[in-house]
Amino acid sequence: MTGRRRTAVLISGRGTNLQALAAAAQSPAYPAEIALVVANRPEAEGLGFGKSKGIATAAIDHKIYAGREAFEATLQKLLEAHRIELICLAGFMRLLTPGFVERWAGRMINIHPALLPAFRGLDTHRRALAEGVKIHGCTVHFVAPQMDAGPIIMQSAVPVLETDSAHSLAERVLRQEHAIYPLALALLARGELEIVGQAVRVARPGEPDEPLIAPHPALPGGAGKGRKPA
Ligand code: GRF
Repeated sequence: MTGRRRTAVLISGRGTNLQALAAAAQSPAYPAEIALVVANRPEAEGLGFGKSKGIATAAIDHKIYAGREAFEATLQKLLEAHRIELICLAGFMRLLTPGFVERWAGRMINIHPALLPAFRGLDTHRRALAEGVKIHGCTVHFVAPQMDAGPIIMQSAVPVLETDSAHSLAERVLRQEHAIYPLALALLARGELEIVGQAVRVARPGEPDEPLIAPHPALPGGAGKGRKPA
């Protein structure tokens, strides 16, 4: 018994965030272990990754269930059988009922590819480009009954470039997803998060980082990023 928090990762597709979480959890010092991978689509690529790492995996095909409650009843039984304490949604494309969300309140987190509360829902990168935002990013948040609306744990921002396509922007954001999801899960697993109203307090917040200004103005005399205008 290592004392690490037993965590399930719920996926629907390729599972690169699952890979990032599993990579972090390979360190014995990491406070969570990935004990179960569940997909609601049997063909989800991430299941193969889970198996290859010796993680327990399961497909619960939502299409064979009469409704969300029946699907979630099977899911809940599986989570209990594996003594799961925490849940990470990672590209899990299935809405969960308020009952299931309530049951896991404070113990279930999600990663969203936008700086919430901007761009809830799907197709976030295309919409960000269409709106002309200069800064975009990703958010890890507690799951609430409303979609993409729970208390925000951590965010990472990236510049939007004039040359960006939705694809190139998605890649830049995805690298940040892989960076912050393991950090956020570690905070949760160590019990270092407290939900206060709609906000999340972190027990030992790090020093604030540099501001991100985008596009960063090119300054005369070769001064550029990281230099303050005179
Ligand atoms: C990620 O962009 C995540 O933010 C979103 O769905 C995508 C899943 O990617 N919710 P992956 O399956 O983790 O590669």
